Amino acid sequence: MTTAPTSARARGHAPTPLTLDALVELTRDTAADVRAGLHEVRFDAENRWSVRLHAHTYADVWLITWTEDQSTLLHDHAGSLGALTVVDGDLTERVWRPSGLRDRALATGRSVGFPVGYVHDVVNTRSAPAVSVHAYSPPLTAMSYYRVDDAGALRRTHSVLTHDPEPDVPTLDAVPSRTGTTR
Ligand SMILES: [Fe+2]
Repeated sequence: MTTAPTSARARGHAPTPLTLDALVELTRDTAADVRAGLHEVRFDAENRWSVRLHAHTYADVWLITWTEDQSTLLHDHAGSLGALTVVDGDLTERVWRPSGLRDRALATGRSVGFPVGYVHDVVNTRSAPAVSVHAYSPPLTAMSYYRVDDAGALRRTHSVLTHDPEPDVPTLDAVPSRTGTTR
């Protein structure tokens, strides 16, 4: 893993010495380990299954599996850079652009990097399960979630403090309001 000094621009404006390219390389290398059978892979049709494979000083690496229709919902990675490599299967990424959401296919072997401020959803639209390796630098501490409103604007709905890219924590949507109803 390369940690040579780089400019703030090359680092993607995140507080880490790792570049996006180095983070992508880390997910590629770990994906090769998964394909070689070095890590256990499980699937859970109720809740996406994930496990942290590595906790480096500047990056966490996670293994995530996806059954049909499982998705992350639209989110960012707070102040962390992110990257993923598809180990097996086909995923669809819905990326927020100023012009709206754009889909792109992430087939087996495909790698992508996420600069700070990147908002996306990842979903398995296929019946076959999928497996992917994700890395975050600095390690995740928070994520925010979004929706696109009727006018096509991106609206942040809530944020969570989490080290886990699959946070299982209450969200504002699930918290009763002062009138006793949920929002
Ligand atoms: Fe993400």
